Amino acid sequence: MTVDVVAPLAADALAGLWLDPPVLPTKWLYDERGSRLFDEITRVPEYYPTRRETAILRAHADDIVATSNATTMVELGSGTSTKTRLLLDALAARAAAGVDVTYVPVDVSAEMLAESSTILARDYPGIAIEPTEADFTESELLLPGSPGNRLVVFLGGTIGNFDDDARRAFFDGLAASLAVGDHFLLGADLIKDTGRLVAAYNDKAGVTADFNRNMIEVLRTGLAATGLYADDFDHIARWNPARHRIEMWLRARRDVRAYFAVLQREWVLPAGAEILTEISTKFDPATLDAELADAGLAHVTSWTDPHGDFLLTLSRR
Ligand code: AVJ
Repeated sequence: MTVDVVAPLAADALAGLWLDPPVLPTKWLYDERGSRLFDEITRVPEYYPTRRETAILRAHADDIVATSNATTMVELGSGTSTKTRLLLDALAARAAAGVDVTYVPVDVSAEMLAESSTILARDYPGIAIEPTEADFTESELLLPGSPGNRLVVFLGGTIGNFDDDARRAFFDGLAASLAVGDHFLLGADLIKDTGRLVAAYNDKAGVTADFNRNMIEVLRTGLAATGLYADDFDHIARWNPARHRIEMWLRARRDVRAYFAVLQREWVLPAGAEILTEISTKFDPATLDAELADAGLAHVTSWTDPHGDFLLTLSRR
């Protein structure tokens, strides 16, 4: 683990592990192994969101790009996924028609940005690729492209990781960095049968459990812990009806007594106690569009998949 990761992890551990209940920022789930495990999650049978969102984009990417009339597409938390390519295919069709188009992937991982940008530049010679390294949750974005002709996309249902306050702050910040006429495409998972929701976050093969327990590995290696073992924790996925969200917790199977050398601190967690590691909020379309509208992002069109599981909503500044 690199030095620049140790200090922020130490700060987050100090700020969160001694709370009741203990909590750790979700981003620590997504180290290299965690990102690989999440990728695996998107292919387990119970985890429907990725397939549903891809189906919507397959059916409507042309429509989305045409409606936004965008020449610049900015993707927040970009990946190398099939989903992005469906939008890029639609953008490339505009480029072929003589329009200058630019794709701006925004991500915190410089390594991933460089890697995926090289491949995309090769596959989409008609599109200018301008990777930007930024944490869009922490800073307001200075968006490239001509005002009024930008399409910002935030896919995958990652908005579900934000609690109510963080989501409002994010929409407000985004609206402030957009010009009138710019569009915002948001992917969000919808409220549905609790059994299906819980199963999607507790797959039979145990991939999500491994993904969640990886947080313990991140702590152990990043903070030089002794007495801390991933196997001492159970993966819990629980539906919180009041806050309409799935919560992922790690529950101690036995009394845990760990020592973090980096913090020079001992940490005890009694058997049965739980650490909150991730929330995944689920939405009702009308409520979500009202939140966007409150931030100054007016509803334009939305699409769902044929099962009505997932939502893509397009709004306009
Ligand atoms: C990447 C945040 C969209 O909330 O569904 C999946 C993360 N965690 N299974 C989600 C996740 C466990 C995922 N997001």
